[in-house]
Amino acid sequence: MSTVVVTGPIPDPPDSLLRADHRVLEVPATGAAGRRDLLAALDGAEVAGIVSTVTAAVDREVLAAAGPSLRVVANVAVGYDNIDVDACQEHGVLVTNTPGVLTEATADLAFALVLMVTRRLGEAERLIRCGTPWAWEMDFLLGRSLADKTFGVLGLGGIGQATARRARAFGMRVIYHSRRRADAAIEVELDARYVDIDELITTSDVLSLHAPLTPHTHHLIGADQFAAMKPTAYLVNTARGPLVDEAALVTALRTGQIAGAGLDVYEQEPQVNTGLIGLENAVLIPHLGSATVETRTAMADLAVRNVLAVLAGDPPLTPVSS
Ligand code: GLV
Repeated sequence: MSTVVVTGPIPDPPDSLLRADHRVLEVPATGAAGRRDLLAALDGAEVAGIVSTVTAAVDREVLAAAGPSLRVVANVAVGYDNIDVDACQEHGVLVTNTPGVLTEATADLAFALVLMVTRRLGEAERLIRCGTPWAWEMDFLLGRSLADKTFGVLGLGGIGQATARRARAFGMRVIYHSRRRADAAIEVELDARYVDIDELITTSDVLSLHAPLTPHTHHLIGADQFAAMKPTAYLVNTARGPLVDEAALVTALRTGQIAGAGLDVYEQEPQVNTGLIGLENAVLIPHLGSATVETRTAMADLAVRNVLAVLAGDPPLTPVSS
């Protein structure tokens, strides 16, 4: 039996599965206080595994506190920008993530944001709840249609593909830009055209971000890109906040450089740029991409199985590399 730190409660059955074989220390690691608790819990506790949630940074300081007993960090997310993978490799610590199991839920949420922002549903809901008088009128709260428009995907991995599939069902044309060009079979299935990033920016009616956060993708969408987008275009981000320069986004939304934005993620979570808060053309939701009972259970299950495999001396199911 080894000790495993879990940086926040995880659901059953995976929680019980982990506890059946190992001693579990639950240390919610959100915010500065959470980080202090995590470092204190790791110190001298002979921890062999960490099940980390996206709010927990696993960096050199955490690895130093854990010491040589640590063998695996299992992130409960597909993205792993909260983990210093190079430092883990240097310390001989395996890192895993949870690809696949959250694809459909996240694509659902991305498309929910597409619908919300293009049809102004947040604004419309606020109007009713505020008791604002209204009546059906020809030009009341008009949004923009999706059919025959261009859906631009930045990052055609699993979630990008699943979101593009939804866009196709709404009668949209799909273009994409990705680090690697997708297999021909995927391009055929989605009728998706590979374009360079400039064409993606200038021709998308809806630009949906699905790239991982890396030094290369940080602020990939900023002032220059907003200036090049159509004034009728919408940006949707369900990937990671820092892909977008949030200050430049506020300016773009305020000045009408783009028509609207649907955001699930932010540069400094859980803070949201105050400039976004008062903007009717911004739909703002709190990092809910994978937030369904089924999906979070599947993510926790995969993370726990990765820990169990590594601690049993077997290869991890879904390892990541830097
Ligand atoms: C969630 O944000 C994830 O990367 O899975």
